Amino acid sequence: MSAPETPPPPAPRVSIEDLTKYYGQTLVLDEVYLDVHEHEVVCLIGASGSGKSTLLRCINQLVPYDYGTIRLDGVPVDDPSFGKTGLRKRIGIVFQAYNLFPHMNVLQNVTLAPRKVHGVGRAEAEDNARRLLGLLEMANFADKYPEQLSGGQQQRVAIVRALATDPDVLLLDEVTAALDPELIGGVLDVIRDLKDQGMTMAIVTHEMGFAKDVADRVCFLEDGRIIEEGLPEQLLVDPQEPQTRRFLQRIIDAGRL
Ligand SMILES: Nc1ncnc2c1ncn2[C@@H]1O[C@H](COP(=O)(O)OP(=O)(O)O)[C@@H](O)[C@H]1O
Ligand SMILES: [Mg+2]
Repeated sequence: MSAPETPPPPAPRVSIEDLTKYYGQTLVLDEVYLDVHEHEVVCLIGASGSGKSTLLRCINQLVPYDYGTIRLDGVPVDDPSFGKTGLRKRIGIVFQAYNLFPHMNVLQNVTLAPRKVHGVGRAEAEDNARRLLGLLEMANFADKYPEQLSGGQQQRVAIVRALATDPDVLLLDEVTAALDPELIGGVLDVIRDLKDQGMTMAIVTHEMGFAKDVADRVCFLEDGRIIEEGLPEQLLVDPQEPQTRRFLQRIIDAGRL
């Protein structure tokens, strides 16, 4: 009797090979390899300047890189078939500074890209925006302007805006770093909910407790290299590499783990 055929493992959603980037003479990403699979949450940790933001920005082509290949569902992200707007529809990104347009209300901020860039009709874009705002408990804020919202509320709107194009992958770059401590938990809860809904995410965070909780895998970066990666309970509790140990010890000394 022949053994039942095991299906091949699914191809990664995002696949990064040998990614290398310089800013001038400075090597910022040094032969980075990283896969993110469907529904997977990968957290990137590391000291300031280790290349985390640059890595995320390379994935959706916000910054150019020098060597290597990044693929989305097997297709290089610089393939002309995507176009810049096509790629950014499929890979959403949210930054520490939420960058909402101050002269637009919440609904306008959220519907801008779907309407102007992706040609979605107004009614459909607004229905979708209101649905997403509802999911993130922001339904009552559709008519407010950014300055009328707390930092946590603005960051929720920025996340809704990234979700409004129905991306396949969401990149989050220290989205709670600018928030007052009492507002951080609510935004982290939103990200946990997205994970529960199956969103594929790469998350840069300094919130180690959150990383332990939400990550399927954690990668530690230093000087543009992924020094170590592993399950959160392994990497964050019993790291193998001396650099990772030193980094985590500093976090522990600062009372943040
Ligand atoms: N626009 C830029 N021009 C020149 N150097 C940059 C630029 N952005 C980042 N860098 C440098 O690249 C390195 C990695 O930065 P970054 O990706 O922001 O790290 P992280 O997000 O881990 O703090 C740092 O040395 C930083 O100074
Ligand atoms: Mg950064």
